[in-house]
Amino acid sequence: MAKDVIVACDFAGQSAVEEFLDLFERQETKPFVKIGMELFYASGPQIVRQIKDRGHRIFLDLKLHDIPNTVRRTMAVLSELGVDMCNVHAAGTIEMMNAAREGLTCAEGTRPILIAVTQLTSTDEVRMRDELLINEPLERVVAAYAANARESGLDGVVCSPLEAAGVHEACGAEFLAVTPGIRFAEGDDDQRRVMTPRAAREAGSDYIVVGRPITQAKDPVAAYKECLSDFCGEN
Ligand code: C5P
Repeated sequence: MAKDVIVACDFAGQSAVEEFLDLFERQETKPFVKIGMELFYASGPQIVRQIKDRGHRIFLDLKLHDIPNTVRRTMAVLSELGVDMCNVHAAGTIEMMNAAREGLTCAEGTRPILIAVTQLTSTDEVRMRDELLINEPLERVVAAYAANARESGLDGVVCSPLEAAGVHEACGAEFLAVTPGIRFAEGDDDQRRVMTPRAAREAGSDYIVVGRPITQAKDPVAAYKECLSDFCGEN
């Protein structure tokens, strides 16, 4: 499985994301991009088609978490958009993840990569224990949620790079660890469980999801290339 950098396009609307993607217009390789809730809710499904038409692969990060029937039906709608990857919360249970996979699978039996969020990388063990009342070590929770996702026939999980090795140990080398929480250096923002692109590669991440370190960089194309070369060993 080829490793890749996914750029989180967390912008407020179409013009902001287009301005950003224009920077990559002359690049040979168009970045794999992530469309999250902010952009999707602001601009609607057509933003997915527009970015796809520009030649980008798309991870639609809507983190579905609802009753199984609603998730199945919503995934069937999303399957029409032709995205490459999408996701649910593993906390929605095995039944919900099974429903998501079924809803996403088209009549020919194909579907985009489907992964599950384990614990958000902005959550740490203290918050998990004190606010969510989960009293297990974080690594154990992530590995257990990953095992549930695998049992549901999903392709991988979203987790911190710190947990990628544990996920592969629990679910096998082919099971994907897609890891946000990437920083070039120690930061001072909302992410709690972070690593550099190089360290994430060494830790066993299959895809890194990088937002602000690229989108807010002085030179986003240079920051993207640095991520690519550090994570994939190429330019
Ligand atoms: O700007 P930053 O690099 O922190 O962006 C990380 C992206 O990954 C955001 O779009 C965020 O929603 C997403 N994400 C995350 N942690 C998860 C799942 C998704 O940070 N567990």
